[in-house]
Amino acid sequence: MPPRPWSPESWRDLPARQQPVYPDPHALGRDLEKVRSYPPIVAPGETEGLKRRLAEAARGRAFVLQGGNCAERFLDCNAGSIANQLKILLQMSVILTYGARRPVIRVGRIAGQYAKPRSEDSEVVDGITLPTYRGDAVNAIDSELRGRTPDPSRLLSCYFHSVATLNHVRALIESGFADLRRPYNWNLQSIQRGRNWDEYRTVVDRILDAIHFMESFGGVRPEALGKADFYTSHEGLLLGYEEALTRHDPVSGRWYNTGTHMPWIGVRTRQLDGAHVEYFRGIANPIGIKIDAKSTPGELLGLLEVLNPADEEGKITFITRMGAHRVEEALAPLVRAVVESGRPVGWSCDPMHGNSVTLANGRKTRDFSVILDELTRTFRIHREQRSRLCGVHFELTPDDVTECVGGSTVVTNEDLERRYETYCDPRLNDSQSLEMAFLIARLMQGEADA
Ligand code: PEP
Ligand code: CO
Repeated sequence: MPPRPWSPESWRDLPARQQPVYPDPHALGRDLEKVRSYPPIVAPGETEGLKRRLAEAARGRAFVLQGGNCAERFLDCNAGSIANQLKILLQMSVILTYGARRPVIRVGRIAGQYAKPRSEDSEVVDGITLPTYRGDAVNAIDSELRGRTPDPSRLLSCYFHSVATLNHVRALIESGFADLRRPYNWNLQSIQRGRNWDEYRTVVDRILDAIHFMESFGGVRPEALGKADFYTSHEGLLLGYEEALTRHDPVSGRWYNTGTHMPWIGVRTRQLDGAHVEYFRGIANPIGIKIDAKSTPGELLGLLEVLNPADEEGKITFITRMGAHRVEEALAPLVRAVVESGRPVGWSCDPMHGNSVTLANGRKTRDFSVILDELTRTFRIHREQRSRLCGVHFELTPDDVTECVGGSTVVTNEDLERRYETYCDPRLNDSQSLEMAFLIARLMQGEADA
């Protein structure tokens, strides 16, 4: 059977989950029309560049670090927050490069991660039933019905906050912010308080030695140390908005989502016969697909057939988020089936979303050691299945928040009351993020020796 024709709006004929209900559909149409008239945020050439690099990662020649907020907030669209977010990802990527002995591809959950899927449509706050918060692109987090009502003008704000954020990221990178030789990139105060600092300091010293050694040899072009590639990603959830930023590229004749380099499909919207998969099958971007323990081998093969029938390399990244206690039984059969199919796939691990727990006081948290446990097991399972884990995916922040417990600077359950700021899921803080990078570097060196 020939495939059904695709267009940026063909998803509209299928059931779309997780879409906000707007009280005024005309206002929605008008605002989406405005987004449609605005310029693209990213260019197809950059997006193709990322796809090529992801293909290298899947072949073991690079490693992917994807990370950022669970829910980006409009109020964090300022110079300091953006620079710090970039800085933590750069620092982690250098540590990972050291561990992986491969270049690291940096992909932020940034410049568009403003929409959230939710398990419940409503919640009771102070005795009033309110629509749940679905991200700054949809509604406000405050506890009033007015703010919680989905407002389409927020899609315009979503566009402009994405543009402003990416503009600042680009300016920082162009002006040498990513230069590894600059000492401010190695301001590691937060983790220096931790009990494992001596071990990590040895790694930092070795990295700095290596940089100086290469420089003294003149074997490295200055631009290789001074510039860094950086890509954006967000969950492609609000299909009207994604459609409005989907543009035809006259050079290649293909359609691109120009709102981000790498959109991903979340676990709640990856139905083979659903609107999200329909939308994603027509765009040329590299795409992520979140995979949980409910996924079956047949489903993964079905997704590959629909979303990448031509077996383009670098196109699909399966981002697994099983939960540490389920990963052994859940992941191996999926990896085996994909390996046997011979289809090209990149595998990344999101060790955050399968490991959330809600404490008695209602706080949602994640334990550093459980996160590391899922990662450790995932590396091993891929090795046993003759596959390769080629990336990691984190929810993290450069701020000193107390949202995830554990780590060598030790955040306890009691500390969660101190600085719990996320609008959605708990994130690793600055020292936990750096420590995680050191531990993954160590894991990867063990892999290389195995
Ligand atoms: C997320 O990445 O914030 C998210 C909602 O993930 P998942 O779709 O894996 O639950
Ligand atoms: Co999340």
